[in-house]
Amino acid sequence: MAGPDSRHTEAQRSPDSRRVVDPAVEGPLSLRRQDGALIITIEREERRNSLNRATLEAFGNVFRYHLTPDDRAVMVTGSGARAFSAGADLKERREMSLDDVRAQLLRYRTDLAWLSTCPVPTIAAINGAALGGGLELALLCDLRVAAPHASFALPETSLGVIPAAGGTQYLPRIVGAAKARELILLGTRLSAADALRIGLIHRVSDVETSVLDDALAWIQPITHGAPLAQRAALRALRAAERLDLDAGLTFELGCYEACLTSQDRVEALEAFAEKRPPVFQGR
Ligand code: COA
Repeated sequence: MAGPDSRHTEAQRSPDSRRVVDPAVEGPLSLRRQDGALIITIEREERRNSLNRATLEAFGNVFRYHLTPDDRAVMVTGSGARAFSAGADLKERREMSLDDVRAQLLRYRTDLAWLSTCPVPTIAAINGAALGGGLELALLCDLRVAAPHASFALPETSLGVIPAAGGTQYLPRIVGAAKARELILLGTRLSAADALRIGLIHRVSDVETSVLDDALAWIQPITHGAPLAQRAALRALRAAERLDLDAGLTFELGCYEACLTSQDRVEALEAFAEKRPPVFQGR
């Protein structure tokens, strides 16, 4: 996460930066802040928000230069209503040498994978089709909210490759081994309702509401909650995916310790006694 001395814009510093367009647009991405969340929008509607080299690098720059300690969540979405992201930019890919493709695959890990280890929760607001690398981008996020017309697939095997931006590893962890085999080997395309049913996404927005507004409202318990507890819970939850139970339980106690000594814990107990909402400071 960018430190206090990193490149902050005036817009970011403003105390009233709840709905501000960040002038430091990162090429194919735009950034803005709303309701405590840093919102990253892929601005390649004409190519259905597919991920070319510049877009992946811009994602890396968001983490390196734009994410600040005040951001309580990171939300990723796509421009337009057709696609969240159509995955790899197949037109660019066609021009790439084998080494270019290898370098591009590594870029998913260096410039995009921070979404899965980000200190604050990451949310995909899926505004349309999430295909291939576009779905893998959503899988990196902690939470997924989709518009009712969104669709989902990992069609890579039908294109002679495999989902290698984490798809074969994240998908089984999210939907289970059996469903992941089906989705990857058959390239099955799912509707938002089906994706919700198998646990691929957490929520489908109402048809009347924009998925971004719906997702922002839904995550208010995160953006209005106790920051240190949110971060500690995230560390413990992510550890559950790589540790055995005994090691995980020990790790969990360590995460609790970070909350135990916080002023926010004391504030929550005082607020309860005084029958008022707590005011958390993140200390
Ligand atoms: N890479 C590069 N360009 C892409 C693209 C991709 N992954 N997906 C779509 N585009 C381009 C199209 O080539 C088209 O460009 P053109 O106007 O120059 O012909 C433009 O985006 C619009 O695409 P279109 O298919 O007409 O849009 P749609 O809204 O009807 O459908 C999708 C959107 C995403 C469902 C459809 O484009 C699609 O299935 N794309 C391929 C997805 C895919 O297989 N991804 C790779 C996974 S490994």
